[in-house]
Amino acid sequence: MQDPVLIIGASGTIGSAIAHTLSESGNKLILHGRRETDALRTLAVALDARYYAADLTSDMAAQEFFEVVGQENVHLSGIVFCAARPFPHKLALRTDWTVFQEQIDTQLKALHTTLQAFKPALEKRPDGARIIILSTEYVLGTPPQKIAPYIAAKAALTAYGQVVAQELLKAKIRVHIVAPGMVRSALTADMPDQYLDMVETEMPEAKFTSAEDVARVCALLMCHDGDPLYGTVIPVSRAARR
Ligand SMILES: NC(=O)c1ccc[n+]([C@@H]2O[C@H](COP(=O)([O-])OP(=O)(O)OC[C@H]3O[C@@H](n4cnc5c(N)ncnc54)[C@H](OP(=O)(O)O)[C@@H]3O)[C@@H](O)[C@H]2O)c1
Repeated sequence: MQDPVLIIGASGTIGSAIAHTLSESGNKLILHGRRETDALRTLAVALDARYYAADLTSDMAAQEFFEVVGQENVHLSGIVFCAARPFPHKLALRTDWTVFQEQIDTQLKALHTTLQAFKPALEKRPDGARIIILSTEYVLGTPPQKIAPYIAAKAALTAYGQVVAQELLKAKIRVHIVAPGMVRSALTADMPDQYLDMVETEMPEAKFTSAEDVARVCALLMCHDGDPLYGTVIPVSRAARR
């Protein structure tokens, strides 16, 4: 039987687009969301996939999730990590440390514990496995102001990904890092539509990166064609804006 790809954050805008595209490419999937929502259930039915809900910043919930998925899946062909939690738009020094900690826990801690839990399931595959980490274009070039906790957490996540890309290669696990431009989703929901429309108009093609743009690149990276790109921070941003 085909080994599945586990998508962390599959209930989100980009995660669900990745799930659809990987499923269309013939991958079997395991879907994850923080909460058990109608969107997650509907996606699982549509893609004929198992789904699980777990807040990966909670040690107990994460452990339970790792144990259940690990017991049911001895092998995994890949993991896509696209978790994120919304963040306030505030100057860095006016932001309480708890917000930084939440972002670090949702990004770095959640990825680290996920990889620790599932490395054995990935390395058991004789023909190798793949991990795709969703970073952001904000880690490339000068970052925007007022979202320091998110950018700091994504920078940590990206550096971590570059290190494990080297460390896991001997286990035949390739780590890819994708850095999307702005995509309309829950993460941009608190920005006024008028502002988003103005930013979009100023993009080179007058359009934002779409979740499907990101998903198609992830589908390439989840197969042999993408193997030479491991360890590289790959922008998917329809041209840099800065
Ligand atoms: N949107 C953008 O402009 C943009 C740009 C660059 C990079 N990215 C990155 O792309 C990825 C997907 O972003 P998106 O825009 O699709 O975000 P999204 O729609 O908000 O989805 C976020 C996903 O993360 C899950 N999640 C939130 N908190 C979690 C926690 N504590 N533990 C486990 N899972 C948790 C959510 O589950 P629930 O649905 O149950 O809450 C959801 O599945 C993220 O890594 C994001 O940083 C996004």
